[in-house]
Amino acid sequence: MRINIAIDGPSGAGKSSLAKAVAKELGLIHVDTGAMYRTVGLYMLENGIDPKDPEAVSAVLNDVKVELEFQDGVQHIYLNGRCVDSLIRSNEASMYASYVSAIQAVRDFLLNTQRQMAEKQDVIMDGRDIGTVILPNAALKIFLVANDEARARRRYKELTEKGESVTFEEVLDLMKKRDEKDKGRKIAPAVPADDAVIFDNTEYDLQQCVDYIISLAKERFSI
Ligand code: DC
Repeated sequence: MRINIAIDGPSGAGKSSLAKAVAKELGLIHVDTGAMYRTVGLYMLENGIDPKDPEAVSAVLNDVKVELEFQDGVQHIYLNGRCVDSLIRSNEASMYASYVSAIQAVRDFLLNTQRQMAEKQDVIMDGRDIGTVILPNAALKIFLVANDEARARRRYKELTEKGESVTFEEVLDLMKKRDEKDKGRKIAPAVPADDAVIFDNTEYDLQQCVDYIISLAKERFSI
């Protein structure tokens, strides 16, 4: 049986770190779908295209090539042949990602790539609509949440470690705005699937979260 694990939830809930660690322990590929939306957003940013304009964005999608490469299970992402792992993490790219992700044509553009990856190999895929839209048949779906301050603290640490000059308040404010948009949008809103396990990890450290998900995976996939 193909192992497909979906991890959804708001930004900064810890999806990526958790998925990465679980992937390593279980020998799965970790697919970070947020990076794909960020890459499409980055293209719009670099080419002066309004990310809120569905027509303008749709018109250039044919010029956007998003490719993923995995080295030791770690994902690297390419925009038209150029590695953009770091560029997609800026605050600006985050906002652009959020805008383009609300456009149906962008979601359709990425959907097949995401589904095919999960068909071809055992994956743990993180995003917002993995359990609801991309992999509705995944045998294990997690919806990861944590309180706002905890999430903003993690994002702040991540950004400042990379040398971005932001304040904690800016990060918190931007994160809340982005979440509202992701949750409230009409298409593929970031909400849990009916059969998702909702896991609030505010009080847990990474290893405790990993152990919990692995215990669920062992049960669901008989591994
Ligand atoms: O997980 P992230 O912060 O890297 O995601 C970037 C943006 O992309 C975020 O605003 C929500 C959006 N996104 C989405 O709509 N669907 C996904 N499957 C993954 C991300």
